[in-house]
Amino acid sequence: MTLTGGATGILFGGDYNPEQWSEEVWHDDIRLMRQAGVNTASVGIFAWSSIEPEEGRYEFGWLDRIIRLLHENDIGVILATPTASPPPWFSIAHPEGLPVTREGVRLTHGSRDTYNPASPAYRAAASGVARALAARYGAHPAIRAWHLHNEYGTVSYGPLVDAGFRVWLQKRYGDLTTLNRVWHTAFWSQGYGTWDEILSPQQTQYLPNPTQVLDFKRFTADLLLDCYREQIDIVHALSDAPVTTNFMLPTWLHYDSWAFGDASDFVSIDHYVDASGADGAAHAAFGADQARSFAHGRPWLLMEQAANTTQSGGRILAKEPGQALATSVQHVSRGAFGVLFFQWRAPYSGAEFFHSTMVPHIGEDSRIFREVTRLGELLRTLAELAIDPVGADGGQRKVNGARVAIAWEADAWWASETAGLPSDAFSFYRSTRRTHRALWYLGIICDFVHLDHDLSGYDVVLVPSQLLATDVQAASLRAFVEAGGQAVVWYFSGTFDGDLHVIPGGYSGAFADLLGVRIEELLPLAEGATVSLDDGRTASEWSERIELRGAQALVHYASGHATGLPAVTRHEVGAGSATYVSTELGDSGLSLLLTDVLARAGVEPDAPGAGAGLEAVRRYAGTDVYLFLINHDESARETTAVGTDILTGARHHGVVTLAPGAVLVLRETPSSVSNAEIDGREAMAQL
Ligand code: GLA
Repeated sequence: MTLTGGATGILFGGDYNPEQWSEEVWHDDIRLMRQAGVNTASVGIFAWSSIEPEEGRYEFGWLDRIIRLLHENDIGVILATPTASPPPWFSIAHPEGLPVTREGVRLTHGSRDTYNPASPAYRAAASGVARALAARYGAHPAIRAWHLHNEYGTVSYGPLVDAGFRVWLQKRYGDLTTLNRVWHTAFWSQGYGTWDEILSPQQTQYLPNPTQVLDFKRFTADLLLDCYREQIDIVHALSDAPVTTNFMLPTWLHYDSWAFGDASDFVSIDHYVDASGADGAAHAAFGADQARSFAHGRPWLLMEQAANTTQSGGRILAKEPGQALATSVQHVSRGAFGVLFFQWRAPYSGAEFFHSTMVPHIGEDSRIFREVTRLGELLRTLAELAIDPVGADGGQRKVNGARVAIAWEADAWWASETAGLPSDAFSFYRSTRRTHRALWYLGIICDFVHLDHDLSGYDVVLVPSQLLATDVQAASLRAFVEAGGQAVVWYFSGTFDGDLHVIPGGYSGAFADLLGVRIEELLPLAEGATVSLDDGRTASEWSERIELRGAQALVHYASGHATGLPAVTRHEVGAGSATYVSTELGDSGLSLLLTDVLARAGVEPDAPGAGAGLEAVRRYAGTDVYLFLINHDESARETTAVGTDILTGARHHGVVTLAPGAVLVLRETPSSVSNAEIDGREAMAQL
């Protein structure tokens, strides 16, 4: 399999919704796309009512014409199945195909994502339109890939979902005795006598059953995966083009990203930065590192990002000039084989009319379109980095060589959302993000890893508050440490087994032996409260009563209920060590701890002096090695590097100075690296 549709170079373009415009505008779109260097358009994402205006009656004429027009202009198509947005005829004919909220309210059409993934009528309608599209366009030379659905994530309750949930539970538990034990239904008189008594966890009077809620999230994830697989099978039978679906990273999670990644021919994500400046860059790196990890180190596609404003929590956030360009290059440095946007042209009406686009309301004479055009030029110069993610070279080598990994799994995220935990402050997303951000400011690239996966390629594995851990995962982390790895585990990790039962014998029981501690008591802190540590710093959120069982204390509590007891510990095990952090360290404490662990493992940034806003990332493409340098800082930054600027051909050997906002990509292949007499000691790269 390979990317079809004549793809060469880095893919560049965005969501394109021609059904929302007259055909005159299409011609202007093509002109501007060519001007900006766009080579890819994602078409048809929400176009169901334009493709199938009545059940079973298809109108392909407009789609034939636009695909032909794009193809004639060397713009490849990522063709979507429009199944995230069923048309009104569907909900009128099949009201049971609409989603039901946790409160029991059946939603109706008028927006998007109004479908019930457990409804046979929805599944049949979605399969029908997917099959019709794949049959018509499966072999079309313009089609590069298939974009199935959009951001899977609709969660539904109600009778059809209850029925599906019961079948899933029967497979998982076999009999009711086991289910009653695992769900511990003796608590609050929840014992089930027949399968039909079991419901999905809709709104109830007080705290719901924790394992029931976790199982429902697992079930929903599997249900969405079934929907995805159904479409994959249909399209694979009719087309050689690879399939993907866009993950909405990193803030929501309704399915298991590893499983979705494994089902896809390549991984693609949507990512919208949540801040400006260096913090925004750290956020983009977080999304990119997750995407690459869910692709097991292979190249992946940025399916959507914003050129400027994003609608977020009722506010419109604007990007600073140059940020869209720098973020795009960041994504390429961390493995993206394409950089696409939501969306091409700004509509004058419709729900998202103020979400930014590549062509803004004001048109081509605009800062945004000029930046988009500049990005198109820049990406063309990076063409030699393009790797076909499903071609022969796509799977051979990881695109980045991270030596540090952060443990990440959907179960841990969902478990951290359990009501009734000792603190409401838990957020798996926040813990992993904070750890990643601290590494980013230290200039270190990292992967995300499932503790079930092979850890042997890493020198450091970080486990930020992963509440659940199985015996297999505990054994895997121990083997990693014994073999010389450095592990860091944060509070409350491994407190529960896979059924969300507290492991007896001390908290963090799955890892306690490896950590060399016995955790007797949890001492969560009130919101905003802090404790002092004996290294002069303060910490927040959490503290614990810890007894050392082989570990040594690195830092102690100096105030609060645990005064004088260990706060951070380290246990030397085999050739490595396991560090335990029993509280939420402040930024400087976290950075200091990670600096120490990285030094023990001999992990350094990809260029000297990187970090604190100067991003340095080494990227592999075939046998070539590239060093990306991006300065997100507000002042000029220096590093040393050796290589050829692939934009200008200038050779660098020695000190490189980057102005604020500068982007430099150096080819470091052996021929250029060994060329010792290269000058260009001082080079200012400013795009
Ligand atoms: C998502 C969707 C797009 C659009 C953008 C707006 O990523 O896929 O259709 O709604 O969000 O940010």
